[in-house]
Amino acid sequence: MSLWNRHAIFEKNSIILTVGILVVVAIGGLVEIAPLFYLRSTIERVEGVRPYTPLELAGRDIYVREGCYNCHSQMIRPLRDEVERYGPYSLAAESMFDKPFQWGSKRTGPDLARVGGKYSDEWHVAHLREPRSIVPQSIMPGYAFLATTDLDMRAAEGHLAANRAGGVPYSPEQIAKALEDLRTQVNPDSPNLQAFQARYPGATVRNFGGRTGGVVSEMDALVAYLQVLGTMVDFKSYDASANIR
Ligand code: HEC
Repeated sequence: MSLWNRHAIFEKNSIILTVGILVVVAIGGLVEIAPLFYLRSTIERVEGVRPYTPLELAGRDIYVREGCYNCHSQMIRPLRDEVERYGPYSLAAESMFDKPFQWGSKRTGPDLARVGGKYSDEWHVAHLREPRSIVPQSIMPGYAFLATTDLDMRAAEGHLAANRAGGVPYSPEQIAKALEDLRTQVNPDSPNLQAFQARYPGATVRNFGGRTGGVVSEMDALVAYLQVLGTMVDFKSYDASANIR
């Protein structure tokens, strides 16, 4: 019996065929999945990536609450057109502290993975208030109420603690000081400034939402979040091959 004739045994008997398929799929699964159980992490650490500050984290919550991800992705794929338009492609480490990640799959508007630092805070505030005041053809909805809504800060500590439970390495000190750090990030004159910057290296401190009063608005939080997106890794000095072990 030639090899091809033996194959006819599978073709003529659906049970044997099903068992055969299961065996082949199981081997493929073992080869692909089993090694993952022996790796401590599939994400290589990249210098500069830090957990969000309490203010940025609150802004991220507003981003999720308002459904910005329905129109914006945060994932630059390693394709030439994307890299030329948006910048260096997204690294896994850049969303390792995003619980859940905001990669998204819909681009009614542009990708936002590297929008941090692209525009001024004033641009974002004006654009979020009324997108058509900046981009006349825009179909993005306005979010003017964010500027006049006080940020609900009651959950600041719990918010960090919940993220820690999910694997984000917030220290007990960062959790205890969450509320103080949240207020500090919008107040460059705060006596807590140095301690804040030691806890969150590289975080910027300023009046993001352009308020004049002392309260923290939802606009402050959202703009702080948008301005940090994609800025943690310094791509001028980033060497992808250095992470291959
Ligand atoms: C209905 C779809 C839609 C929703 C929802 C939406 N956007 Fe947009 N967004 C757009 C479109 C379209 C543009 C491009 C035109 C413009 O700049 O206004 C855009 C542009 C932007 C830009 C400028 C990006 C760049 O690189 O020029 C930012 C920042 C932005 N949106 C943030 C947000 C945030 C934050 C939210 C949630 C509060 C949001 N968007 C909700 C559709 C949307």
